[in-house]
Amino acid sequence: MDAVRHHYERYTYPRYPLLASVRSGSAQHLNLQRLWARYNTDPLPRQQQTILIAGCGSFAPYPFSLANPRAKITALDLSTTNLKRARLHCLLHLRLNVTCRRGDLLDPDVASGPFSLIDAYGVLHHLPDPGAGLQALRGRLADNGLLRVMLYSHGARKGTEAARRALRRLKVRDVTALRGLYDRLPSGSRLARRLAEAPDGDANHGLADAFLHPQVTTFRVTALKALLAESGMELLAFLHTGALTRPADEWQRLQQLEANGALDINYLFLLRKNAVQNPHIPAAKSGKTAGRDRLDRL
Ligand SMILES: C[S@@+](CC[C@H](N)C(=O)[O-])C[C@H]1O[C@@H](n2cnc3c(N)ncnc32)[C@H](O)[C@@H]1O
Repeated sequence: MDAVRHHYERYTYPRYPLLASVRSGSAQHLNLQRLWARYNTDPLPRQQQTILIAGCGSFAPYPFSLANPRAKITALDLSTTNLKRARLHCLLHLRLNVTCRRGDLLDPDVASGPFSLIDAYGVLHHLPDPGAGLQALRGRLADNGLLRVMLYSHGARKGTEAARRALRRLKVRDVTALRGLYDRLPSGSRLARRLAEAPDGDANHGLADAFLHPQVTTFRVTALKALLAESGMELLAFLHTGALTRPADEWQRLQQLEANGALDINYLFLLRKNAVQNPHIPAAKSGKTAGRDRLDRL
């Protein structure tokens, strides 16, 4: 875990300008009451407006606070640098309902909850054992609490992972060395193309997150299925762009895409810790498509 922490102490992620603002309307997909009402029949108790952003990075607390001005929000991260920037972003935009905690989400004594909503966007795949991370978050959920997770898919990360492994073999460990290597690579080489195509590749934090990360797991569809089956939580919906409404249909679509070598998105999904385990719980109350009403990254 130390290597991951050092990585994020060195490379703040993400790196939006501190004055970057979000319109309140465009953060509403992060609204706890709206999510709760969509997926739960019992109303959310007033005192249970609690949100944990697990592995919050430097920005997410701000849009979560905007969307949930009356909730108690806890922002947890390994990295002091990321937390400081997240806190500053919130303060500059007068978002005052966020408490920042430095710590490891695997430690049950840090930010122990219970929480009605937990967000773990792009975090669990940086743990040595993502399943243990999922269990640690489950332990912090209130009954019927919701957990949003984004995980890397094998398909979407294939090229980036090949480049990351090559760079590790070449002992390229920082952005200066990476840029130096890029300047020396023949422009048509596969590695040069990968580096050039990276999202945020013109910025140090983007290059570092894609290619220099010390700990990454990617998931094939069957591995994701096994992970979720073992989680003891109910899969309510897939939320990535283009996802089909019924999880069963989306599993099939993902499997087909993967088999055709065409799976180029990461997984975004919503889980629930059911108060009573019931194998016949309907997946979701709404018939809207996830594409129209997705909880997407800002
Ligand atoms: C890729 S960033 C994602 C940040 C944020 N969730 C977002 O979507 O912008 C991953 C974050 O998770 C944090 N992190 C990784 N492992 C962690 C752990 N075990 N406990 C707490 N935070 C962790 C890192 O420090 C980093 O800030």
